[in-house]
Amino acid sequence: MDNLIAYDLRAEHLHEPMGIDVERPRFGWRLRSDRRGARQTGHHIVVEQLSAGNAEALEVWDSDWTASSDGVDVEYLGPPLETGKRYRWQLRLRDEAGVETDAVDSWFEMGLLRPDDRRARWIHRVTRVDGATDPPSDATPSLATRRLPPADHLRTEFQVRRPFVRARLYATARGVYVAWLNGARVGDHELAPGWTDYRDRIVYQTFDVTDLLNRGANALGIMLGEGWWSGFYGSDRRRQGFHYGELPEAWAQLRIDYADGSSELVVTGEGWTVSGGPILYSDLLMGESYDARRELGAWTEPGFDAAAWQPAEIDDGPLGRLVGIRDEPIRAVERLPAVACTRHGDGWILDFGQNISGRVRFTFRDESSGTIVRMRYAEVLQSDGSLYTENLRTAEATDTFVSAGAGVESYEPSFTSHGFRYAEVTGLAGRLEAGDAEAVVLRNDICWSGSFETSNPDVNQLERNIRWGQRDNFVAVPTDCPQRDERLGWTADVQVFFATAAYNADVQAFFDRWLRDVRFGQTEEGSFPDVAPKITILTEGAPAWGDGGVVIPWKQYQFFGDRRLLEESYASMVRWIDFLELNNPDGIWRRRAGKNYGDWLQVDATTDRHVLATAYFAYSTELVAAAATALRRDDDAARYRALAGRIRAAFRREFVDDNAMVKGDTQTSYLLALAFKLAPDLHDQFAGHLVRTIEEHGGSLTTGFIGVSLLCPVLTSIGRADLAYRLLLRDGYPSWLYSVRQGATTIWERWDGWTKEHGFQSAKMNSFNHYALGSVGEWLYRSVAGIDQAADSTAFRRLEIAPHIETGITWVTADYDTPVGRVRSAWRREKDGYLYEIAVPPGSRARLRLPGKGLREDGAPAAQGAGIEDVREYDGGTELVVQSGNYVFTAE
Ligand code: BGC
Repeated sequence: MDNLIAYDLRAEHLHEPMGIDVERPRFGWRLRSDRRGARQTGHHIVVEQLSAGNAEALEVWDSDWTASSDGVDVEYLGPPLETGKRYRWQLRLRDEAGVETDAVDSWFEMGLLRPDDRRARWIHRVTRVDGATDPPSDATPSLATRRLPPADHLRTEFQVRRPFVRARLYATARGVYVAWLNGARVGDHELAPGWTDYRDRIVYQTFDVTDLLNRGANALGIMLGEGWWSGFYGSDRRRQGFHYGELPEAWAQLRIDYADGSSELVVTGEGWTVSGGPILYSDLLMGESYDARRELGAWTEPGFDAAAWQPAEIDDGPLGRLVGIRDEPIRAVERLPAVACTRHGDGWILDFGQNISGRVRFTFRDESSGTIVRMRYAEVLQSDGSLYTENLRTAEATDTFVSAGAGVESYEPSFTSHGFRYAEVTGLAGRLEAGDAEAVVLRNDICWSGSFETSNPDVNQLERNIRWGQRDNFVAVPTDCPQRDERLGWTADVQVFFATAAYNADVQAFFDRWLRDVRFGQTEEGSFPDVAPKITILTEGAPAWGDGGVVIPWKQYQFFGDRRLLEESYASMVRWIDFLELNNPDGIWRRRAGKNYGDWLQVDATTDRHVLATAYFAYSTELVAAAATALRRDDDAARYRALAGRIRAAFRREFVDDNAMVKGDTQTSYLLALAFKLAPDLHDQFAGHLVRTIEEHGGSLTTGFIGVSLLCPVLTSIGRADLAYRLLLRDGYPSWLYSVRQGATTIWERWDGWTKEHGFQSAKMNSFNHYALGSVGEWLYRSVAGIDQAADSTAFRRLEIAPHIETGITWVTADYDTPVGRVRSAWRREKDGYLYEIAVPPGSRARLRLPGKGLREDGAPAAQGAGIEDVREYDGGTELVVQSGNYVFTAE
């Protein structure tokens, strides 16, 4: 593999996307080569439109040879792309010697681009119900679920009379849906269309159903549940359902392209019928109830007798804004077998060994018809071995299955998701074994981009817990937690976790989509919401929460080089700062601080809320100035830089005393002052106070959600990586490893979610799967493995690889797929020195700072040449500048 190779080809940041609707998609690829100094110097892209059946290709754009050095966001500049068409793009590169690579190709398919492409209408169940109702009794489900309606089954039949070459299903729901064509499930999306702020837009999905279509009779079926549209969601009991509407609706259009060049549409509207079925109700928070005796049989196949079904009603209201996909859908990405099944009371407790977000697939055997099996879920067990469910609050997270007495019966809920490690099963007449249950992990199917491993098993478990926290909470939106009655896109949680998430996985498309909801939730005055999409929690503008609307687009730009997103976000970022300034002209953020949550869940410390708010005001203003500079808006850059200066001066006047003590004197107050450079000339004094506040707490942290993300990075920046390591490796309460020692498999919401002394924290708010305290993951990559980029670099084009090696960890191996290609930083402490293994992708150049004296490569002193541009010693190590390639060094 000596050549330059382009891999991981993407359009609009997605692999072979179906149904995108951006006017000028951006192409992307990563580079690899084993050759030192390999570099891309140009690219050549040819885009062809593929006709149905992929027979002929029609060239639509030839980029010509264009000078370039990487595959980050190369924009399509050809003529307008057409509705529903598939395009192949072919890529060739030129390397540093002018040698051209072989062509590689990929494709993307456009969605419905013109408003009149949308011919289907929303359809729904019959709204006028005639039926007898009995009063509730102990046998009826809970009061919360009693009024939840059955999931709808909608169907139509149609004939295909001529030879066809291609078929596409465009579909979505006000609710959640699954479609079937002729008995086969269409696609593998779960909980589609996911959750966007439906008042703004709903995403439709595009499926290639050519292989499912029949010549002759066909049947199209849609199963529809409540989801985020009308089901229970969020924690405000006064408004816990009907967030967007009162009944779910489906929308679908099937396009058939015939061999003779004509085409036909089958759309939701006239001619559809609807029925209930086995799903008695389904709800994201409450769970699902399934009666196998009511299964409908072959309702998605032609010829099914639907005489008893009713005509579906058509919604005459506006269609709303339907948009193409932006990011990876939710899928069932992993299946975990139960690791144990134990008898408990009159039921069984299953342990899946991992706290996950998703559901369980059960197999029941030989139950008699009418047997009601009840499944409940929990993250942890009580000391008596029973489920601890109090922390789920009003989320009932209960599934029921009524057996049809059919021998071996399998059941997996369709339209619910739980956060759990354990499941309790009651009501079975027969036995249950571990092999009868499998946990199904649901999440947006985002590619992992980072891996990190060390010699220390506890740190590895912590890292796994962080990763699982991300898996479990990147479901539709970045949620705070997957289990209780909340599951909202809290803006601070994800703001502090963003960098960790972006090292772990290619979250670019996911955030691009979600940030639209952050912007949509911005008030007319300019205040960003505390949660996005904005439901239930209608508050806005809390310090460090609202700031997410500035911090995340900026970090997304730094990590992925996403300039278009920065441009799209810029006006809203500016409006946020203008709003804060208008209300706080003296620079101290006191007014319009919303719920001002402060350093949420800090322990044994009280960081002053105005200190935190004002620090964030300065930080966000500085980021807006940086964004203005990046977008070449020089006047804005100057204006916001000056404002940031005034806020810093105000901060100092108001909160810093003559001894450089910040009001409140907490770890977080110094972390903010140092991280956001609020008084650079007091750097050393602040650093001294920070260390003192840690020592005063017996060497322990006191930080909450906000401070914690700065703790290890700031300690490292003041030359105290040793102390950061000590905090990382502590396992007494409060610390990261405390929960690891208690057997945690995800990051807890609170440092003291459970302690030996006090047991469980208040069940009113005690999730065992919140990622915010896991924001230390960023530091593991950035400072322990040492994979970082220069302050003014984007997309890791200019790497800074500087591992910090301290006591407690003897080796680290980390890989990270940057937007340009894969970086590796591995180090090992050996008996008499260090061993380093570094890989720099083509398209980057790296500055390495490697601890140890007398750096050698292949036994000889590291010297200029063969990819190494510069070598110089510094106190305690060697600094090098290297081109792309793989390097192995030793040092003493
Ligand atoms: C959520 C948090 C969130 C917070 C706001 C909680 O209920 O779970 O993660 O940021 O409220 O203070």
